[in-house]
Amino acid sequence: MFASYRDPNTLQTLEKVRDASKETQIVLVKMDVRKKNEIEGVRNIIEDTVGDKGLNLLINNAGAFKWLGFPEITEEDLLFHFSNNAVGPVMVLKGMLPLLQKSAAREVTGMRISRAAVVNISALLGSMTELNDQQIMISHNIQAMGYRISKAALNMAMRVIANTVKDQGILVVNICPGWVKTDMGSERAHLEVEESINSMLKTFSLLNESHHAALLDRNGKTVPF
Ligand SMILES: NC(=O)c1ccc[n+]([C@@H]2O[C@H](COP(=O)([O-])OP(=O)(O)OC[C@H]3O[C@@H](n4cnc5c(N)ncnc54)[C@H](OP(=O)(O)O)[C@@H]3O)[C@@H](O)[C@H]2O)c1
Repeated sequence: MFASYRDPNTLQTLEKVRDASKETQIVLVKMDVRKKNEIEGVRNIIEDTVGDKGLNLLINNAGAFKWLGFPEITEEDLLFHFSNNAVGPVMVLKGMLPLLQKSAAREVTGMRISRAAVVNISALLGSMTELNDQQIMISHNIQAMGYRISKAALNMAMRVIANTVKDQGILVVNICPGWVKTDMGSERAHLEVEESINSMLKTFSLLNESHHAALLDRNGKTVPF
């Protein structure tokens, strides 16, 4: 398993996870999803490690969030979200595609994460359908404009890619983790990190063709976007 970090200052936490892992060997790799050379560097490390087996699962988790609504929003803020949350995951997937293709080619039928899959940690905030009249009554829901737009772009980008790679046996799914107590979600969030991750891991194990190109909640329910 490969886990990426961007900032060497956060490496200690990941090193603890790696060192505590008894059954799975975890390799830590540095990658800012906005840096082409770092994506290529990680692809090379993975390729050297896995050889012909390829990569069976890419989880695009990195994401950035700022509270800014209209008209305070700036061009800089919009581009910041777009490059981190939409362009970054697409470029990471583009970089890892040959490895996913290798893994997919080892089996002949079906879609599942043990064959080849891309799971993007997206957000219901990127669903236009979810932003209904009831939601808009709560005024903070129309803040975070750059984040919302970028996650909507991610959802669409992955739907396009899903349809491009569907004959190659690579499953592409977007999933929302729920509102989680992370740095981004804050202490006010509903879910502990463990709750969210446990639900998503259960969902991962059930993913198949029927989920291809969909946006799911953490329990695997399809959400319109
Ligand atoms: N928490 C929630 O309630 C919630 C809800 C819906 C969706 N999500 C999504 O869940 C994912 C994880 O978010 P989180 O809640 O864990 O947020 P977080 O606590 O803010 O963590 C975000 C992570 O993304 C990394 N990151 C940001 N920009 C990056 C870049 N350009 N390249 C590489 N790594 C980068 C950060 O690295 P550094 O440590 O270097 O900053 C950090 O590790 C995100 O995609 C987020 O949009 C979260």
